[in-house]
Amino acid sequence: MRGIILAGGSGTRLWPLTAATNKSLLPVFDKPMIYYPITNLMLYGIREVLIITNENQVPLFQNLLGNGNQWGIEISYAIQDKPSGIAQAISIGQDFIGSENFALILGDNLIYGPGIGRNLISQLSFPGATMTIYEVANPSEYGVAYLNQKDEVTEIIEKPLDGKSNWAIPGLYFFDCNSIELVKDLKPSPRGELEITELLRTYLRSSKLKTIKLPRGTAWLDLGNPRSLLDASEFIKSLQTRQGLLIGSPEETAWRMGYVGSSTVSIPVNIQNEYSEILKDLRND
Ligand code: G1P
Repeated sequence: MRGIILAGGSGTRLWPLTAATNKSLLPVFDKPMIYYPITNLMLYGIREVLIITNENQVPLFQNLLGNGNQWGIEISYAIQDKPSGIAQAISIGQDFIGSENFALILGDNLIYGPGIGRNLISQLSFPGATMTIYEVANPSEYGVAYLNQKDEVTEIIEKPLDGKSNWAIPGLYFFDCNSIELVKDLKPSPRGELEITELLRTYLRSSKLKTIKLPRGTAWLDLGNPRSLLDASEFIKSLQTRQGLLIGSPEETAWRMGYVGSSTVSIPVNIQNEYSEILKDLRND
């Protein structure tokens, strides 16, 4: 499986934080936001990653992430000229996808918890698509799944106002390569975007959509405004401090997944801080 991270958009809700940089490069406690989705993909066993972002921001990501070899993965880059929807990432990434299945994850979604790594991957269903759902108090801000009494998804609606379902759809999706053709039939929504929820509905209508409820205790954190960004930082800080472990660290994940040996855990030589100290301990394991 391959992985696509969509890190486009203009980040207007976070302005002026985003005036000179990409939202996915902002800090969530001690690391850039994009480290979290990269780590998710690595935990799924994905080693080929495409990052899609605005043209003028590609160099920023390249400075931070390079080609991924330091973490035993391959990162390449593609450009989304204007924010025309999450589903457009599939058209942009079609050469990268080729005939493979892939995960599509948003650069500003932080999903963490037990059972969202290898366990999640073991439940995917191909050919077809798989989405996750997660209970939230504010569903009208998201794509929402409606379930019947047998817990089957009957409908998917983008940002509904009826409050009839609390099952939001996080920005983490798994598709087969048929999605490349299906995206071509999508029409822009009233907000002018190719909606990922429309693509999911296409799979739902042909009975090829699998749904996984994220377990209770999973954290799917909103990073869309300054308050939620600070809350997310506090959350990561609390867990990391309590456990002395890193959350969302590609260096640690590369080591745990066996993508690099302990002697190659990558830390720049002149760095000495809490983050690097934890990584250095791995080298000594
Ligand atoms: C997008 C999707 C929505 C999804 C959300 C997850 O919303 O359209 O279906 O639930 O990401 O973060 P947007 O960020 O474009 O409002």
